[in-house]
Amino acid sequence: MTNFSSSQKPSFSGLSRRQFIERFSLLTGGGYAAMMGLGFIQEAPAKPLRAERTGREKGRKVIILGAGMAGMAAAYELGKLGYDCTILEARNRPGGRVWTVRGGTQETEIDGPTQTCQFDEGHYLNGGAARIPHNHDISLHYCREFNIPLEIFMNMNEGAYYYSEGKGPLANKPVRIREIHADLRGHTNELLAKAINQDALDLPMSPADVEKLLDYLRSEGSLTADLLYKGTERRGYRERPAGGVHSGMIDDPYPLRNILYSGFTHPAFSNEGEYTFYQQPTMLQPIGGMDALPRAFAGALGDKIVYQAVVSEIRKEANGKARVVYKEKGGKARELKADFCICTIPLPVLKDIPSDFSPHVQTAISSIHYMSTGKIGIQFKRRFWEEDDLIYGGISKTNQDITQIFYPSYAFMAKKGVLKGYYNFHQRAEILGNLSPADRLKAAMEQGGRIHPQYHEEFENAFSLYWPKIAYSKGGWAHYTDENRKEHYPALLEPDGPYYFAGEHVSYLTAWMAGALTSARDVVEALHQRIASN
Ligand code: FAD
Ligand code: ALA
Repeated sequence: MTNFSSSQKPSFSGLSRRQFIERFSLLTGGGYAAMMGLGFIQEAPAKPLRAERTGREKGRKVIILGAGMAGMAAAYELGKLGYDCTILEARNRPGGRVWTVRGGTQETEIDGPTQTCQFDEGHYLNGGAARIPHNHDISLHYCREFNIPLEIFMNMNEGAYYYSEGKGPLANKPVRIREIHADLRGHTNELLAKAINQDALDLPMSPADVEKLLDYLRSEGSLTADLLYKGTERRGYRERPAGGVHSGMIDDPYPLRNILYSGFTHPAFSNEGEYTFYQQPTMLQPIGGMDALPRAFAGALGDKIVYQAVVSEIRKEANGKARVVYKEKGGKARELKADFCICTIPLPVLKDIPSDFSPHVQTAISSIHYMSTGKIGIQFKRRFWEEDDLIYGGISKTNQDITQIFYPSYAFMAKKGVLKGYYNFHQRAEILGNLSPADRLKAAMEQGGRIHPQYHEEFENAFSLYWPKIAYSKGGWAHYTDENRKEHYPALLEPDGPYYFAGEHVSYLTAWMAGALTSARDVVEALHQRIASN
């Protein structure tokens, strides 16, 4: 905090709004949140909401189906404009697919046994959303608006492992990711440098251009002066440098063929994942669990959310209004009518709810496939991945059904830890997800134990989930083909009478909270525009 003597005290009279904010910011030590809390500035949204109060919205009723990110963001923004919103939510918690599992969490999957999580206090598994890309300004906007503290989510760790089960010369041993990255860069840059040297005369480049490019390849691949890759300290040491006479010894690189034939250039391993726009560093997470975000929305919405209200019929009235039938806790049927309704129910659930949606909307709802995906959180007595393997956060990857192991990006060096023993997709998720929780754990222990033999000694308890079997979700996220994006997606973008659709499935950011949030704001703008121009 900046201290001012009385003669230095800034005066705020006669200042422009910008000057005022700048000076106030100095006073509060740059406290954006403090200024917002005091009402001095409005939140700074990713893209300002194009909606201003007109007076026509006052008292207009809107029913919102689902208290996930889309439903709550819609209610929150509509509430600011003066609409009277009610959210019907089937579960007894907000957040939908933003769900943090902690000690005491219970879940009974469709046709499955009830699991009760046994994690120790302070440990958790983000069962759905877990990481926020730095370029998801809309998700970060709401974290900022609700003062949610964030920490780094380690999406990439060169010290984690690749493990190829039964494939190629490097099979069945954990290999540090940095060794493969460094060797692939070295070998491919050596090949490129050789090719350029040989064909220099045929290149549309001057000799000076060629020399500059070779300089780049030499440094990018860690090549010798004569353009050979002979290993590099980037891949780590056989003997690390230490005191006295220990100058350190780097290891020999793996031959390129060994890497290729062990499958490490397959996208399942290669660093393609972390190069995507949405997975490049920096990634973030709310401290203590992703559900901080939905809990903040729910806190702001208060009794606007009716929990354990399971929507069972969606109807259009003759007067153009929406009528929604729901079952409250105990099974008693109730109904609500309103001028408008925003439906955020995931499509695999919505398709089985009787409704008056138009035929092309019904077809869209039942044509869009959802991703099979599952996770397991395993609590261990000891953070052996940190103590023994020097892995602090990040992801190990394997060609086994578990696909990947995520190391927690929180509570480093605590006594115990919960790691994500798998997070898988498509067929691999189906294979494990269709097992009982006990058998999922058995597979996770067997496969993960090949990478970390410490699993067996240190295991304490586990909790697994498979999204296609989770009631009120019935899938991971909308997985569009080009065809149904073209054929069916447009039906969800337009209102069907008094009904609007929002949710991650009504966006090109499927599988992300940002998709749900932007779709909600799109619908708020469209609905408000309709009221304003009527
Ligand atoms: P939902 O969250 O599904 O909300 C819909 C709501 O409707 C739910 O609360 C549900 O209970 C309710 N509902 C359903 N049926 C009824 C009914 N009959 N009556 C009343 N209410 C009903 N996003 C990220 O940003 N980062 C990530 O790292 C990330 N990882 C993910 C990992 C997994 C495994 C999954 C599954 C998702 C992940 N996502 C991630 C995506 C993100 O979680 C979703 O995009 C987002 O939460 C979807 O919000 P929504 O409001 O569209 O839907
Ligand atoms: N967006 C989802 C994730 O980060 C798929 O895992």
